[in-house]
Amino acid sequence: MIFKLTEEQLAVRNAARDFAQHELLPGVIERDEKQEFPTAQIKKLGELGFMGMMVSPEYGGGGMDAVSYVLAMEEISKVDASVGVCMSVNNSLVCWGLEHFGNEEQKRNYLKPLASGEKIGAFCLSEPEAGSDATFQQTTAEDQGDHYLINGTKNWITNGNSASIYLVIAQTDKQKKHKGINALIVEKGAEGFVVGKKENKMGIRASDTHSLMFQNVNVSKNNRIGDDGFGFSFAMQTLNGGRIGIASQALGIASGAYERALAYSQERKAFGVPIFEHQDVQFKLADMATRIEAARMLCLKAAWLKDQGKDYTQASAMAKLYSSKAAMDITTEAVQIHGGYGFVKEFHVERMMRDAKITQIYEGTSEIQKIVIARGLFK
Ligand code: CAA
Repeated sequence: MIFKLTEEQLAVRNAARDFAQHELLPGVIERDEKQEFPTAQIKKLGELGFMGMMVSPEYGGGGMDAVSYVLAMEEISKVDASVGVCMSVNNSLVCWGLEHFGNEEQKRNYLKPLASGEKIGAFCLSEPEAGSDATFQQTTAEDQGDHYLINGTKNWITNGNSASIYLVIAQTDKQKKHKGINALIVEKGAEGFVVGKKENKMGIRASDTHSLMFQNVNVSKNNRIGDDGFGFSFAMQTLNGGRIGIASQALGIASGAYERALAYSQERKAFGVPIFEHQDVQFKLADMATRIEAARMLCLKAAWLKDQGKDYTQASAMAKLYSSKAAMDITTEAVQIHGGYGFVKEFHVERMMRDAKITQIYEGTSEIQKIVIARGLFK
């Protein structure tokens, strides 16, 4: 076993770190406060190749491996987790899904602008009554011969308003249950498609989360991904990779908070010495560093399995389960180490603590990850 990154992987990590420090850090507090989507920052991220990192250059992507993706996600999310989630959804849910299951025409028309960062994509599975229970799709895609008519509502959609291309999961044949579900590509501006209200969130406030409404939206059958009834399998397989992205986002939030707490512990004095000299602070930081290292290993292992073409279903669920819990605990400890300063915005860690929570909820709650892990135990 070789625990060594390649020159290319290190270069990707350095480029992402540099971008995060110079382009994301200035303004991150204001964007969070004003719930302002980072339009300019995402555009630059796209120009650098970070919005379609794993897509083949033939389709406008960076042609990088999943390990590089984890490294980049950690660096970006360390500074701005709102940018992290936009990047994660575009890369691992939308671009990966289209590249692996889309046909040539769909790749040329939709993947290319998404992978090159020209456009942003959204993945629309969750509904008011179908979050964890993803088979319970109430949005319908009625078969009309050469096209489908979509009706229904989607909830909690990341990039809901900023996206131009939406992958919509909907039920065509209720009798067939999950085998009657389809994944359809819908463009913004389609008649009957309305972007609903923006959610006023606790964390990742600069990200763009909306409900979406579909009323008799006409979608050509050419825009169906895969065969009739492939939609649920499409969503599940895509989410397996998406979980590596969110696990890495959680890892980034945790390591960002840890680095700030470590630096603060050396600057801040109490009882005549820097607080790092107090053993209880050392114990906290030692625990934080250990858990971050464990989370990083789980994320990299899942990515490595993906790069090797091996099954990563269980590994990605483990990475997400562990990293998201670590992010919640570590950001809470980082606030504690900062004392009163941790409770005010200028010190960043309160935002990180708020941002951490969603990583235990979206792309499958922690309980869903345990179901996925448990189902793999006897394989
Ligand atoms: N990978 C591949 N295939 C899978 C799978 C996985 N992880 N999990 C299930 N499947 C397949 C099964 O093999 C089965 O296929 P066959 O019928 O061909 O055998 C089929 O899917 C149905 O499986 P189950 O009977 O196990 O389905 P279930 O109803 O018991 O549910 C579940 C399984 C794991 C709970 C699933 O519903 C699930 O993952 N739920 C969570 C959904 C989720 O993550 N939602 C988040 C929304 S997206 C988001 O948050 C994006 C964003 O904007 C940030």
